[in-house]
Amino acid sequence: MKILSFLFLIITIATNAIAQSTNPILPLIPKPKSIQINDGVFTLSSSTVIVSTGNSFEAEYLKTWIRSYFGFNLDISPTAKQAQSSITLTQKNESNTAKKLQENYQLEISKHNISISAPSNTGIFYGIQTTLQLFPLKPSETITLPCLLIVDQPVYSWRGMHLDVCRHFFPKAYIKRYIDYLAMYKMNTFHWHLTEDQGWRIEIKKYPKLTEIGAWRKGSMIGHYSDQKIDSIKYGGFYTQDDIREIVKYAQDRHITVVPEIELPGHSLAALAAYPEYSCQGGPFEVAKTWGVFDDVYCPKEQTFTFLEDILTEVMDLFPSPYIHIGGDECPKLRWKNCTNCQSILKKEGLLNEHELQSYFIKRIEKFINARGRNIIGWDEILEGGLAPNAAVMSWRGTQGGIDAAKQSHYVVMSPGSHCYFDHYQGDPKNEPIAIGGYTPIEKVYAYNPTPSELLPNESKYILGAQGNVWTEYINEPKNVDYMAMPRMAALSEVVWGTADIKQYKNFQHRLIQHFELLDWKGISYSKAFYEVTSKASPHPSKKGIMVKLTAPFDSSRIRYTLNQDLLPFHSSTYTSPLHILKSSTLNAAYFENESQKSMPFKQSFLFSKSTGKPIKLNTEPHPNYALGGAFTLVDGQLGDKTKYGRDWLGFKGQNVEAIIDLDSMDRLSSISITTMQNEGSWIHYPKKITYWVSTDGVSYTEVGMKNSQDITNSQGTINLKLDAIARYIKIEIMPIGIIPEGSQGAGSEGWLFLDEIRID
Ligand code: ACM
Ligand code: ZN
Repeated sequence: MKILSFLFLIITIATNAIAQSTNPILPLIPKPKSIQINDGVFTLSSSTVIVSTGNSFEAEYLKTWIRSYFGFNLDISPTAKQAQSSITLTQKNESNTAKKLQENYQLEISKHNISISAPSNTGIFYGIQTTLQLFPLKPSETITLPCLLIVDQPVYSWRGMHLDVCRHFFPKAYIKRYIDYLAMYKMNTFHWHLTEDQGWRIEIKKYPKLTEIGAWRKGSMIGHYSDQKIDSIKYGGFYTQDDIREIVKYAQDRHITVVPEIELPGHSLAALAAYPEYSCQGGPFEVAKTWGVFDDVYCPKEQTFTFLEDILTEVMDLFPSPYIHIGGDECPKLRWKNCTNCQSILKKEGLLNEHELQSYFIKRIEKFINARGRNIIGWDEILEGGLAPNAAVMSWRGTQGGIDAAKQSHYVVMSPGSHCYFDHYQGDPKNEPIAIGGYTPIEKVYAYNPTPSELLPNESKYILGAQGNVWTEYINEPKNVDYMAMPRMAALSEVVWGTADIKQYKNFQHRLIQHFELLDWKGISYSKAFYEVTSKASPHPSKKGIMVKLTAPFDSSRIRYTLNQDLLPFHSSTYTSPLHILKSSTLNAAYFENESQKSMPFKQSFLFSKSTGKPIKLNTEPHPNYALGGAFTLVDGQLGDKTKYGRDWLGFKGQNVEAIIDLDSMDRLSSISITTMQNEGSWIHYPKKITYWVSTDGVSYTEVGMKNSQDITNSQGTINLKLDAIARYIKIEIMPIGIIPEGSQGAGSEGWLFLDEIRID
């Protein structure tokens, strides 16, 4: 008796603890618009019934997931018996509800019932997704959900994810799995990038060679583009029209629109390998084996339009999407400049240049697609030479394209490389699969606001939403798509649902850590970069040495570190406050929970010179995308990792960069070394010229040397400048390349200057 009442007491305390914890953080992503937690819990059991009329797919979907989680085979019934535990799906009779409101839902959990109601099956589906995220997946005897009321609705109507299946091909089963990820996060648009230089992946009945020839390449790049290595293994694949119909239906059931992308006029080498007659020069061509941009593109002659219109007719028959993506990006104009056909079209149509010819191309395609009741969307290059009258723009080269289009009253989907390209690294590249470059950690994705502050309210309404892009040059198997997309997709889903708030990032982190259990359960190979320790160096007030602050996603007091020795839990120190580093050292750190190392190891070397940690001034601000550590990046003792543009480097465009370093006292100086880089594929070039001066008082400077382009190029990125002076101040002026010359990627655009460390000895 005593034992029994003692047990009862424990159970009572435990239940009250759940009910009374005033503000539990529920593992919901995207976070709902409003949550009210009530007393009590709902208990799911094998006798719970799903009550549904007219939501057969949704009810079956819920039943299937519950069966796979818990093994319960719940009945679906039009009614429940009195007092029976039930999950009811109710479509409110509001058939005339505005389209925007169709995604709303209400989820009410009470002791005996889970009620999901919405104006449409889309809202019901979203209510189910929220419910599924609330189920505990750790083995336990009772499956309980807290009583609550959620009233939810999204802010943006385009909540998208893209997948490139051309650089690498992914089987139908994986495409469905990827669509399931979108569904889990209430995303509603799958942008399927189906055609490229390196492969044509959609069966077109009228032009069978598109897949017989265009879907196969005779080799692929090994390692990074910069290694320029190619294998000779035949590679390819494509989706039949039956496959496509199956996937479109699969997505439709999950309330996801599949937007197909058929690239034109550029990125079309695979099609031209099959049908060279639609190029300017006639070929022959091979499906591309290397990544990049190719000069051979569609020639805007009549036969080409017939060919493309035939293709688009089959595409529109397969995809009910209101938007058809027609590419439009990165189309070199070289062939058009030298083609008599193209030049006669230019003359006949009164076009000023090849940009206007591209615009003419897109406008003709738009007219064809509009006549069939659909709209085009294209990458932001379709602004050049004039936008087609009804085109929507996908802004990828930053946000300016989106801003310009919205100001012209055109719809926009934001997908800037800086925040939405999930082919960039998200953690320390040492710990990650090879990627194209860049650094876009999940926190940066979470901080993104799809509506640019440059827009007025009546312009902002043209921002449909945002999209994450997964380009697959460096992603050759499904588990690596998982790795690159997840969990950044989770962060983006909250951005486009409209409930992300970077000021509440900690709250997102709490939810994400719980949510990882669901991803583990589903066997998703998501990135653990989230747990990585990161560091930030800053000046020490004494101007001697540097301060290094370590951060871990949650609780930085769980970091352990060592200096100049390997990291082992038993001889490492617990991190408590920023470290003051005074000489060349190597710092090792990791995030621990109890005695278990959760993160991959963090390792950072500091290489000291006379300028390390000293005050530095720049005459010009670095570009905001590459400015993370500010001017101090150049004297922080850390040599930049070439893959982490956004963290270790400062990026500049335009005017000469002038840096002044104050060594704090007079000293004999013999050399300066400056780290810079060249990566043509990313439009980053060595500087053209460097001039340097010394001063004893910071007022009057004496020029002591200069390096020109030839010397700089030969230096391979570490530019050594000779010096023989006694001085306190050093001034260095660095001239960027300016406009990228013909023959290089990005020709005609302003090139980047990237700088890292300035070491003085
Ligand atoms: C693109 O990334 N070329 C749209
Ligand atoms: Zn031509």
